[in-house]
Amino acid sequence: MSDTRANKRFRSQEWFDNPNNPGMTALYIERYQNQEFTREELQSERPIIGIAQTGSDLSPCNKIHVFLMDRIKAGIRAAGGIPMEFPVHPIQETGKRPTAALDRNLAYLGLVEVLHGYPLDGVVLTTGCDKTTPAMLMGAATVDIPALALNGGPMLDGWWQGKRAGSGTIVWESRRLLSEGKIDYDEFMSRVCASAPSLGHCNTMGTASTMNAMAEALGMTLTGNSAIPAPFRERMAMAYETGKRIVEMVYEDLKPSDILTRESFENAIVVNAAIGGSTNAPPHLQAIARHAGIELDVTDWQEIGFEIPLLVNMQPAGEYLGEGFFRAGGVPAVMGELMKAGKIRKGAMTATGKSMGDNLEGWLSVDQDVIRPYDNPLRPNSGFLVLHGNLFDSALMKTSVISQDFHDRFLSDKGHEGIHTARAIVFEGPEDYHSRINDGELQIDERCMLFIRGVGCVGYPGSAEVVNMQPPDSILKQGIKHLPTVGDGRQSGTSESPSILNASPESVVGGGLAYLQTGDMVRLDLNEGTLNALVPDEEWAARKAAWVAPVLENQTPWEEIYRMTVGQLAQGGCIELATKYQRVANKLPRD
Ligand code: FES
Ligand code: MG
Repeated sequence: MSDTRANKRFRSQEWFDNPNNPGMTALYIERYQNQEFTREELQSERPIIGIAQTGSDLSPCNKIHVFLMDRIKAGIRAAGGIPMEFPVHPIQETGKRPTAALDRNLAYLGLVEVLHGYPLDGVVLTTGCDKTTPAMLMGAATVDIPALALNGGPMLDGWWQGKRAGSGTIVWESRRLLSEGKIDYDEFMSRVCASAPSLGHCNTMGTASTMNAMAEALGMTLTGNSAIPAPFRERMAMAYETGKRIVEMVYEDLKPSDILTRESFENAIVVNAAIGGSTNAPPHLQAIARHAGIELDVTDWQEIGFEIPLLVNMQPAGEYLGEGFFRAGGVPAVMGELMKAGKIRKGAMTATGKSMGDNLEGWLSVDQDVIRPYDNPLRPNSGFLVLHGNLFDSALMKTSVISQDFHDRFLSDKGHEGIHTARAIVFEGPEDYHSRINDGELQIDERCMLFIRGVGCVGYPGSAEVVNMQPPDSILKQGIKHLPTVGDGRQSGTSESPSILNASPESVVGGGLAYLQTGDMVRLDLNEGTLNALVPDEEWAARKAAWVAPVLENQTPWEEIYRMTVGQLAQGGCIELATKYQRVANKLPRD
């Protein structure tokens, strides 16, 4: 055993080995030893490692963790720790209504209470589906005990009629074909189901793959963790190694606060651009940063990330899926290419106990069709644009998915690069959109921009993935796949729509989108980074003065608590009052 193991007193010993309070100690011991743990184990100087289990029957994207658990526990035991698995509130993106986003903060709260209130010295965070990763990292950042994230990994590649069928991405494509009458409902179902051939999370570079890449870029995982497909043997080995490593991290007292620094967040932003990552990454990273006490602003995404080129050829921005990405080297290969180009903060500390630069030594792409070298990218400037104007203080636009056709139609008015003037069509949420999008009276044509509001954190509640609105059938039949869309909600990370989204502040709290009316002209100027309603100031002020906040109906107690406490997407959609609690493990809870 290394020197770091000598004379270490663990947090868990305050529960299980506290001579000052023998009564409570006995109570703690008797009930834990009635399962698999012995008194000798609980009172020995061995760290107790929690394993936050996010997989369940309700959470198929993370279900693989149920089967990886033996390997995680074996790793923890092999390194001298004692594993204790506990459940996390499920957050299944494709299962939870009204939206899984509502439950990110709930799972976060639950994790904070478990890590703070139970005899745990370190924790393995099992991640996978979109919000599971930020929820786990936010909780670990707040509590600040040693924590190591383990992804469950993406599903195997889906295939449909000889072509890769990617999670989510095939839904958007098939939805258009259904609207155009080119396929029927049965074929629609078959196409979509073909994209999910095994256990695992989405196999596209959607929010799940993105957020796990972010966890790795932040240094909160072992090197190479994020991209291994769920069923691969390498995934089981990674589970074992993760179990072993967390025990060492406890002995080294290597905590999230040592790893989550401004430098590590800058690395994550750069990686997000290079992988063509999800538009959900900014609010999630913002939330992790705030709980870690790190300054990060939505404008950092443009300043640090915009000029980074797209290196990863993976759907929705490219062609391949998770298996190809893994075989090409995954996140370490992308970061190795970025490091070679001088874009990685090499000194950032990581969970391996070494710097990011040391971890990445020797990693480069081994398949340049899937992961391009920095000087031969799929496209330049792959990061997000951060827009502002009288409709919102900030909104994001993902540039890596802008097609040439979309650019030529909508982003170069009469030869003026980056400028587009359009007539606004405004929808009050997805139900209104679905009922009216094909209504001839709206006269939606190529010169229209579609807006959706009331779908932010407070409005929906939880912020819905609905901004990537499909154009009316009449427009689709002309061969136009996308109209410009804008909203105060989000969109799926698997969408290839270049929407303007995450508009903050949202309409229901009085953000500018609230005052927009169908028929108003709007002007997008990507050179200035603005989107404005072309409504005279007095008229705009009069609409604002006459505006009455909508009455929002809550269906559950959590919805009400969430709405009362949540902030805006630009600030991470956090429980605002929670952000003042930092490093709570520094104080023991009362006995
Ligand atoms: Fe769970 Fe995509 S729906 S990862
Ligand atoms: Mg989603």
